[in-house]
Amino acid sequence: MSEVTLLDVRDLHVVYGTGEAAVPAVRGIDLRLPAGRKLGLAGESGCGKSTLALALLRLLPRTARISGQILLDGEDVLTMRWGRLRAVRWAGASVVFQGAMHSLNAVQRIGDQIAEPLLVHRRATAAGARARAAELLEQVGLPASRAAAFPHELSGGQRQRVMIAMALACDPRLIIADEPTTALDVMIQAQILRLIGQLVSDQDIGLLMISHDLAVLADTCDRLAVMYAGRVVEEGPAGQVYGAARHPYGRALSAAFPRIGDMRSRRAPRGLPGDPPDPSALPAGCAFRPRCPDAVEACASAEPVLAEAEALTGHRAACVHVVPVPCPSPRA
Ligand SMILES: Nc1ncnc2c1ncn2[C@@H]1O[C@H](COP(=O)(O)OP(=O)(O)OP(=O)(O)O)[C@@H](O)[C@H]1O
Ligand SMILES: [Mg+2]
Repeated sequence: MSEVTLLDVRDLHVVYGTGEAAVPAVRGIDLRLPAGRKLGLAGESGCGKSTLALALLRLLPRTARISGQILLDGEDVLTMRWGRLRAVRWAGASVVFQGAMHSLNAVQRIGDQIAEPLLVHRRATAAGARARAAELLEQVGLPASRAAAFPHELSGGQRQRVMIAMALACDPRLIIADEPTTALDVMIQAQILRLIGQLVSDQDIGLLMISHDLAVLADTCDRLAVMYAGRVVEEGPAGQVYGAARHPYGRALSAAFPRIGDMRSRRAPRGLPGDPPDPSALPAGCAFRPRCPDAVEACASAEPVLAEAEALTGHRAACVHVVPVPCPSPRA
């Protein structure tokens, strides 16, 4: 049975600023997320993950120029009218940002903050919104009685759970979680990520989960995309990308983030030497070439595009060493 496409990003470009100071932060990204599936997006700091996340709901600053297509349930977010976009931002897709818990209103009770989008976007009655807020708190593992609490009465992990409850409030089709656990300790991180994974699976919500930690994403998501210098350089089933990456950068990122169990046994984390390039001064050819242990002369001449590394699973990598699998002829 073919899967319904929830999110279809086509040739997305984002450039901050203009002229010589222009920063091409996202450079031609294609991504597809079927309804109810989980896609993890990884890459080092500055590779464009948050720029992509913000672009998906047109939340970028005015200095950013966006081009391409972002089809959410077939509707292009980039050409939507303002009123429609407002509705989509709550009911179609919602975002949990890094450190989002700090954006809770300090002087408003938790229950009222969760109820607010229901009153505004769902036109719920006050009693209906209160009841739904209590239900959402329980879904994220907090007692309904915490609705009466103020943010300072909750721990960081509990506050991040409240943010997840808010993201779920209007029954979105898609949740975009950008580094949702970075500010929390490792044990709480794992709990929260498992919670997000469980909730989206139970409710058939699509998830785009962003992190620099490939191991964490591999445990939570169905597929993984690896970004480098504004492009996706590898994409495929989570187990394959994490366990058997085909791009040298994907391999380096996997080695840099072993699973906690692996660290206790054999696999110690291995750092990647060098730094990602400045997006406004990219090297010629493959952007990873200056740091790549497998670089050859051909890598300097053109930037490789994603090619199929394994046809059956659609595992793709953008590297000259990946031999493209020819498309089967229609008559074959
Ligand atoms: N408002 C902005 N104006 C100009 N450049 C920006 C702006 N926001 C981000 N950038 C640049 O765009 C590039 C991508 O940044 P982005 O925040 O998307 O990376 P990221 O992958 O989310 O990094 P991190 O893991 O640190 O969150 C970086 O070079 C960054 O300096
Ligand atoms: Mg970011």
